[in-house]
Amino acid sequence: MAQLGSVGFAFFAFCALILTAVSAGPSSRLPAESLPVPRLSVNLDSPAEERWGPALHHWNLTKMRTLFIGTIEQMVPKEALPLVDQLGDVLDELLPAPYSGEIRGVAKTIGIGVGEMAFINMIYDFTAACTSIVAQDANGTIWHGRNLDYGFSTSLSNVTAIIDFKSQGKTVYTTTSFVGQVGVFTGMKPNKFTISLNERDQGGVFKNVVELLKAILLKEVKFTTFVLRDALANDNSFDEVVQRFTSQEEVAPAYLIIGGIKPGEGMVVTRGRETTIDVWRLDLSGNRWFLLETNYDHWVPPPKSDDRRDPGNKAMNAVGEKSINNNTMWNVLSTQPVLNEDTIYTALMCAARPEIYSTRLRKLPDH
Ligand SMILES: *[C@@H]1O[C@H](CO)[C@@H](O)[C@H](O)[C@H]1NC(C)=O
Ligand SMILES: *[C@@H]1O[C@H](CO)[C@@H](O)[C@H](O)[C@H]1NC(C)=O
Ligand SMILES: *[C@@H]1O[C@H](CO)[C@@H](O)[C@H](O)[C@H]1NC(C)=O
Ligand SMILES: *[C@@H]1O[C@H](CO)[C@@H](O)[C@H](O)[C@H]1NC(C)=O
Repeated sequence: MAQLGSVGFAFFAFCALILTAVSAGPSSRLPAESLPVPRLSVNLDSPAEERWGPALHHWNLTKMRTLFIGTIEQMVPKEALPLVDQLGDVLDELLPAPYSGEIRGVAKTIGIGVGEMAFINMIYDFTAACTSIVAQDANGTIWHGRNLDYGFSTSLSNVTAIIDFKSQGKTVYTTTSFVGQVGVFTGMKPNKFTISLNERDQGGVFKNVVELLKAILLKEVKFTTFVLRDALANDNSFDEVVQRFTSQEEVAPAYLIIGGIKPGEGMVVTRGRETTIDVWRLDLSGNRWFLLETNYDHWVPPPKSDDRRDPGNKAMNAVGEKSINNNTMWNVLSTQPVLNEDTIYTALMCAARPEIYSTRLRKLPDH
């Protein structure tokens, strides 16, 4: 069976290419400024096909349509477009409810094909480079921060939002998402846990997007962003999420960064396709008061060409256990190259203090 994590690798090469072709100049726009993102609601009590409508209408849907179609045209060769359409035909076999229904509803609202919207959602699963940090302060409070780095479309910053998923008027969970993205990279279940997903590269088996599309249609590909959403919907404690991601549930190779509400509840789970490869936990007795994960296994040195880990660790240690909070974590996540040209947003979370949840754009929208 095809190895999944490879997809990320293939895409990175692919995306770097697009980026070189499109961007004006390197390092020209490292963001000193940041911008807030809109905070919107999705009502879980509405039918899946309808629940994204109000959030989507926050944007100009004509522009959003152009953005998504443009992304697909950049990524998929013309002769492979029928494969994208096929995704729409078999969506219910590929993704469980409510995700297939939600994607159909989003596609309809935006006015693009179901296959196209499914493709956009599936691509998200493989293309997020990131830095995530979970830390415990001197008081025992758990803080969780993340930068989401995304190489291939600067326009995604335009459609980033904090989404409160509500039922009976109450927030069940909160995420930071690209609108139209039904799966989750970053989220919080208030007073229960916080979670973020970092991609894990493993070298190339899927050489290109056509090969990936074929593997998806053959059901050889597992997705992780939808499992994160399942966790937010169904799990009610740090231990339950950890159990979900360390059990045999199939996900793409990935790093899951999980924070809870009690001292010691911070973990990085390194997942392979079928098994858990490593579990790395906060250990205050061993002076391990924070865990910082980028996109490489924590027990091997990061490549010199992409070392965000050592500068991040240095910045965390300079802050120290006594002073870590959302403000100081923002500063750590603003340290270069933890903050870099591809960073779309910085999110700060604390499950024990849900009001802290914030997301600011680092890559300011294009015109
Ligand atoms: C939405 O964007 C399109 C294309 O740029 C533009 O023609 C249209 O006037 C915009 N609609 C609204 C309501 O602003
Ligand atoms: C520890 O927690 C208490 C209660 O939440 C708070 O009042 C206090 O400021 C915290 N101390 C530190 C050092 O964060
Ligand atoms: C941290 O949280 C406090 C309290 O909600 C807020 O005033 C402050 O702006 C936050 N800092 C950042 C960097 O988001
Ligand atoms: C992105 O946002 C900028 C500024 O807010 C706006 O001018 C531009 O049209 C937007 N692009 C899309 C694709 O929505």
